[in-house]
Amino acid sequence: MQAVILAGGKGTRLRPLTIHTPKPIVPVVNRPFLLYQIDLLSRPQIKNLILCLSYQPRKIEELLSDGSRFGIRISYLVEASPLGTAGAFKNAEEMIEGTTVVFNGDILTDVDLSRVIDQHRSSGAVATIVVTPVDDPIGYGVVEMADDGRVTRFVEKPRREEVHSRMVNAGIYVLEPTVLEHIPEGRPFSFEYDFFPSLWEKGEAFYAYRHDGYWVDIGTPEGYLKGNLDVLNGRLKSYIPQRPPRGEKFDSQAHLDDRSFVDPSCIIKAQARIVNSVIGPNCFIEEKAEIRDSVIWSATRIGAEARVSRCVIGRGCHVGRSSVLDGAVLGDKSVVTDYSRVRAEV
Ligand code: GDD
Ligand code: MG
Repeated sequence: MQAVILAGGKGTRLRPLTIHTPKPIVPVVNRPFLLYQIDLLSRPQIKNLILCLSYQPRKIEELLSDGSRFGIRISYLVEASPLGTAGAFKNAEEMIEGTTVVFNGDILTDVDLSRVIDQHRSSGAVATIVVTPVDDPIGYGVVEMADDGRVTRFVEKPRREEVHSRMVNAGIYVLEPTVLEHIPEGRPFSFEYDFFPSLWEKGEAFYAYRHDGYWVDIGTPEGYLKGNLDVLNGRLKSYIPQRPPRGEKFDSQAHLDDRSFVDPSCIIKAQARIVNSVIGPNCFIEEKAEIRDSVIWSATRIGAEARVSRCVIGRGCHVGRSSVLDGAVLGDKSVVTDYSRVRAEV
């Protein structure tokens, strides 16, 4: 069995973080995001992975290479211009053999793929889509289904009055290769807008698998921050991060709580306070700075007495002394001068 990951989107909602780092490899608790998806695939013994890329493909290829370091064989397909989700799958047609698992390249979940595959086989579906309940389905693909699990309606990004279900497309599909016959070649085509809505009309066996466990789309700053903090707090059951030991350059009077994940290469000065946060390699946290519920990538400096909460801060930034940042998202190399106040837009 093989898997396809759709990872060619531009990651616009995650800007500015995705200007220099494509969304599929943004770090989640200091680990490139796609490794979480590779973990999921290796459980049902999926050994072949096709990555469908378009935006900054070289950076992804350089990092993951042929996949052997991660116990999977990776092939790459690069679209000259984005072909849409179904168009990207069609583009992989020559490499598709038999039943295939397809993932959106931005969902963090611990769904049990073996059970999804079992249900797909026993129901005789040509397409099975994982659905999950959310509080507000606006912004997702909304799925309605019958008691036997058959999908009866699929509406992508519905208007408020079109929402009749809290179940949304979780971005995981199991597909039979026959679906390729319904996808046109060489032009943009979408699973969500074009293909899924028409499957039911064609009378095809299109089923939903309900997942009630952990699931988040990391493709927005809120989702990205939530995903990181959830991994820190053990909410993703399939991966529990091992905290590295305290680094040599952590002052004995620096306070780090048990939840935080701080790379040991950092310099952490006296009375700095780090609570429920992720701090990447080579950061410099000065005296009495306080970092709470935040994610900081690498080589960033946080000045003395600065207070950072619910922020995502990219690489090589400098936050000046006594600044107060709440809910900010800073792209790589941002500079915040001393005593600034930065708040999320309301
Ligand atoms: N290769 C390729 N080519 N990949 C693409 C393209 C393309 O043209 N367009 C999008 N993708 C990839 C993105 O990189 C991402 O991993 C995935 O397809 C989904 O695109 P998003 O842009 O993140 O879509 P979304 O989050 O608004 O909505 C999708 O995900 C929701 C769940 O998170 C839809 O599938 C919704 O139905 C679903 O509910
Ligand atoms: Mg998304």
